[in-house]
Amino acid sequence: MLTANSLSIWQYLSAFPAMLAGRRHHRAALRIELAQLFEVEVGRIVLFDSGRAALAALLRLHGVQAGDEVIVPAFTCVVVPNQVPPTGAVLRFVDVGQGSLHFDWLALDAAITPRTRVVVVPHNFGIACEVPTWLREKHRQVRFVDDAAHGFASRCDGQWLGTYHDGAFFSFEYSKNLSGGIGGMALLPAGSALPATALPEVPCRDEWRLAATLKAHLLGARWPLLGRFAMAAVRRLGMVYRSGDGEVRDGEPHPPRAMPLLSAVLLRRQLPTLAAAIAHKQQLAARYQRALAALPQLQQWPAPAGTHWVRYPFALPFAVADKAALARRLSAASGLNIGVWFDDVIHPAGSCRHGYAAGSAPHGERLAASVLNLPMNIALPADVRLERKLARLVAALRTELK
Ligand SMILES: Cc1ncc(COP(=O)(O)O)c(C=O)c1O
Repeated sequence: MLTANSLSIWQYLSAFPAMLAGRRHHRAALRIELAQLFEVEVGRIVLFDSGRAALAALLRLHGVQAGDEVIVPAFTCVVVPNQVPPTGAVLRFVDVGQGSLHFDWLALDAAITPRTRVVVVPHNFGIACEVPTWLREKHRQVRFVDDAAHGFASRCDGQWLGTYHDGAFFSFEYSKNLSGGIGGMALLPAGSALPATALPEVPCRDEWRLAATLKAHLLGARWPLLGRFAMAAVRRLGMVYRSGDGEVRDGEPHPPRAMPLLSAVLLRRQLPTLAAAIAHKQQLAARYQRALAALPQLQQWPAPAGTHWVRYPFALPFAVADKAALARRLSAASGLNIGVWFDDVIHPAGSCRHGYAAGSAPHGERLAASVLNLPMNIALPADVRLERKLARLVAALRTELK
């Protein structure tokens, strides 16, 4: 999968000498720069090794404990529900809306009980939404926490995603809006603070694995064949960095760690070019939207003008038995890297179900069986070659739709 969406090869290479300034320097500087971007106090920015660790911290901040309920969307990544059982709270899945990638507010209202303490609000693919005021006022005991893992620096009605509810968590993993290899951040609600704890550091060997894996992603986004060779070599050397099997398969919670030095430097490198990266992705989205509109059977979703897309989603009008195979066929036909997020209500397929009852979230299940997505990457020019690839994609989709 084509990732490292906003990272240039130069930014990657220049990160290594900059690492000499050390972890404390770069993390402190990154927090200041992020606080300036979001126009919040520095104390509200807390860095972690992952978005999931930031979510766990927010659940602690909001005092989630045994006897409470936490609602998560039934169209999400397994590492989100994974963070709930360790708090002792009951995990509940609530379906996404029929025509949206986030909650149907009336259905969410009906699902909230007096025991509900936190609702994790999805902003899938970077499309930011806002919980209606009436819903927040009706359920004053509930804290609405944004899952902004797909929408770093997305905006909704001119507001930065993550600043207008009760805190947010962001991800800087390879495939997200900004790539740190791994990395996460909590944006705390105004006036709150987390106890200052020294988190364990990511071992040095893992930082090298991150660097090796990222390099293969960067090459793959520019020269697919070279990228494949590079990834095969990284795999052979045992240098691929990815989520632990225990977390994905067995739903184990994540032991939180500090943001790696490499990630902090890479993120600092990407911030000055963020506006240009977002503008480029918005151009790609506009081209995708236009091209796919030739097939009105496909579902597309409206998005605020300030969306920082992580991938561009579209859905087929029927359930696809093997989405991965279809994505491979469409990728081969078009030359575009077609993705399958999410391939299950609890992504990835085969991961821990956390007691999810099949059939209880029909819209999430329909999406999981029908959504594909297109790449967002600064290395993908929005030019005439892209138009040709899109024309081939539309032709291939037309055949699939027959
Ligand atoms: C919707 C969503 N939320 C949260 C996360 C967790 O982010 P991280 O991998 O940084 O823990 C992911 C990760 O892929 C995700 O897709």
